[in-house]
Amino acid sequence: MMDSRNQACQANLLTDTAPTPDQKLQREFNRWAEEGQGEKMERHHLNITEKTLRLMDLRPGERVLDLGCGSGWATRLLARLVAEGPEGFGQVVGVDVSDEMIRQARTASKEFDNILYVWGSAQQIPWEENFFDKVLSVESFYYYADQERALAELFRVMAPRGRLFILINLYKDNPYSLQWVDKLKVPVHVRSSEEYVNLLKSHAFENVEARSIPDDTPTPDGYQTMSFHSLDDLRSFKRIGALLLMASKPDVRNPAPGYTIY
Ligand SMILES: C[S@@+](CC[C@H](N)C(=O)[O-])C[C@H]1O[C@@H](n2cnc3c(N)ncnc32)[C@H](O)[C@@H]1O
Repeated sequence: MMDSRNQACQANLLTDTAPTPDQKLQREFNRWAEEGQGEKMERHHLNITEKTLRLMDLRPGERVLDLGCGSGWATRLLARLVAEGPEGFGQVVGVDVSDEMIRQARTASKEFDNILYVWGSAQQIPWEENFFDKVLSVESFYYYADQERALAELFRVMAPRGRLFILINLYKDNPYSLQWVDKLKVPVHVRSSEEYVNLLKSHAFENVEARSIPDDTPTPDGYQTMSFHSLDDLRSFKRIGALLLMASKPDVRNPAPGYTIY
């Protein structure tokens, strides 16, 4: 049994340890979730996500990953679109680094039997190799501490010829989005569309394509914005739109680690 001095010492060690990048993200997005931001993000991201869903050409029976799923509103849209297929039902896995977002997503998705929410990070996606036919990630990718590692993980869990769809609202080619960088309490990556395309290509993705996806929702004159200097800036931000990155995994299978053949 541990004596009290040892316990105090261990507690100190725990509190003195600097949080990892993922722990910082977890804390910050838990705070967002507790403030109700998880559900509110649907309003801000729905228009660009619906346009992306159309491009994803989802089929009943497909297996889909929603990476950085937040409160799960997009996960539920995906789950409806893949639900019943000729060879069984499609499934959607929502992964998020914030355990509070995952709790909220689970609570809001009780009537779905084809969604599984998993608390985990893009840095080590808690899933097996070669599984997902499609991946969606909405407004999450620029937070990942190590984007290269996240891409390697995505490549690993995607099925051969699987399709990747990443929506990014904060990027160099939309200068209005750069107003957020100083307001955010966690570090973010700020890259251009061209830099992202090159990054995906360097991770062996094929058919890499970047498109801008404008947000057509009207901004009423009385709208209050905390994120932009003015309503005109917000309107310009929406007009330029989000960056959508699309890519395919080549027709290759990743070897599953950890199996020893005796
Ligand atoms: C701006 S929110 C978007 C949430 C959701 N996709 C939406 O559109 O409502 C970003 C989300 O990414 C998650 N996230 C950030 N870093 C992550 C990481 N390394 N792995 C998994 N999720 C992450 C956050 O916890 C948060 O829920």
